[in-house]
Amino acid sequence: MSTPHKLRLGINIDHVATIRNARGGPHPDPLRAAHMAAKAGADGITLHLREDRRHIRDEDLETFIAEVKLPINLEMAATEEMLDIALRHPTHAVCIVPEKREERTTEGGLDVARLHNVIAPMVRQLTAAGRRVSLFIEPDPIQLAVAEAMGAAVVELHTGAYAEAALAGHHAEAQAILARLAEAARIGTARGLEVHAGHGLTFDNVGPVAAIPELHELNIGHFIIGEAIFIGLEAAICRMRHLMDEARA
Ligand code: PXP
Repeated sequence: MSTPHKLRLGINIDHVATIRNARGGPHPDPLRAAHMAAKAGADGITLHLREDRRHIRDEDLETFIAEVKLPINLEMAATEEMLDIALRHPTHAVCIVPEKREERTTEGGLDVARLHNVIAPMVRQLTAAGRRVSLFIEPDPIQLAVAEAMGAAVVELHTGAYAEAALAGHHAEAQAILARLAEAARIGTARGLEVHAGHGLTFDNVGPVAAIPELHELNIGHFIIGEAIFIGLEAAICRMRHLMDEARA
């Protein structure tokens, strides 16, 4: 087992933009949320520019690159349009995610084994352009092997199934998925990949994920933005940070 290191917290601010877009005006401003996240101790800002632009838009990406000091992680679908945008916008990282128009959120990981011929050239081009490329995958040894073979620097493990099982009170299932996440973090690290995780994480379920020593980063959005309605954004981020640190200690 490797030595536990500080676990970075990436804040996904997409849902600030979702609320802004509901009225078509400038409020609430996702940029203000990013500045507040930085002040509250976030280590990075994640944005998912979806094909349908349902939350952040192209102009948000431009503004964030110009104004945000934290590393920016751009999540994108494996399409030519998004590849072109990612190549023209110098973010710190690019995370390739599966995307379906009709889904409410990113359902499941990217099948990099099946999509090898589409993803591999994207990883090559984005890496050559200086992006740290991450692939959002299920905790599956085959996906990890393919991600390594493609030359990805990072994999992000999809924690959605774990979160759903925990929420439904299916403890044995949640434990079994957690064991797969821990094993994938170990295998990925042994393969030289930096391993991140995210999706569906909350105050109640983050601890066991944060305790996986090989993980370097968690990306959390929906719960934190929702919780901000009740306790404020800074407080929600500080609490998440505290729970992550406590789990690592
Ligand atoms: N990581 C990735 C790759 C994602 O696609 C998402 C959702 O956009 C998240 C993390 C954050 O998930 P959530 O909003 O459920 O915290």
